[in-house]
Amino acid sequence: MKRIVILISGRGSNMEAIIQARDAGCLPGAEIVAVIANRADAKGLERAAAAGIPTRVLEHKRFADRAAFDAALAECIEAFQPDLVVLAGFMRILTEAFVRRFEGRLLNIHPSLLPAFPGLHTHERALEAGVRIHGCTVHFVTPALDHGPIVIQAAVPVLDTDDATSLAARVLAQEHIVYPQAVRWFVEGRLRVVAGRVQLLDAGAPAAALCVPQPD
Ligand code: GRF
Repeated sequence: MKRIVILISGRGSNMEAIIQARDAGCLPGAEIVAVIANRADAKGLERAAAAGIPTRVLEHKRFADRAAFDAALAECIEAFQPDLVVLAGFMRILTEAFVRRFEGRLLNIHPSLLPAFPGLHTHERALEAGVRIHGCTVHFVTPALDHGPIVIQAAVPVLDTDDATSLAARVLAQEHIVYPQAVRWFVEGRLRVVAGRVQLLDAGAPAAALCVPQPD
């Protein structure tokens, strides 16, 4: 079994999509062993607990600095002996020491087509820039913020009528498809990083995306 730890800060809809994929049998060989939040009021904690997944809260505000929090977070994660750590709306910049510790087994989802629009407020910035397509990216985490080898992306059109809310919703629907897909590929051992680029091994294998349930 591949052991997965999911980190959240809020709503947890990407976490939910991964749980649903598991429940639908789309993540064979994977076990979600813990959900960890840096905020006690993270909504996703209730859903994780309801799904029978152990939860932990580690509030960053209680730590003197970023390094101290990240060290404690790393210890908390390591206690679950994860094969994969999934950042699912985890709104913290991570130290290099933390990233190095989990390098190669640390995935993030970002709501833009990286390398465009790293950082915050991606939907507003996409509208301001006038791009015609926008989207989301699942990538391996490296010490540079919202950088790192890209596993999968999904693009959506930007409509003339869009505001940041409508655009975010269109992107989020795609996030809920591509993140479980990326997790599945990782669990299957099909992701290899060569010279900063991700190779999908056995690309002719059945299209696992068809298995991933689409949340409402
Ligand atoms: C998502 O848009 C994700 O891409 C970004 O933060 C949001 C988290 O949403 N990093 P949720 O908590 O998964 O619902």
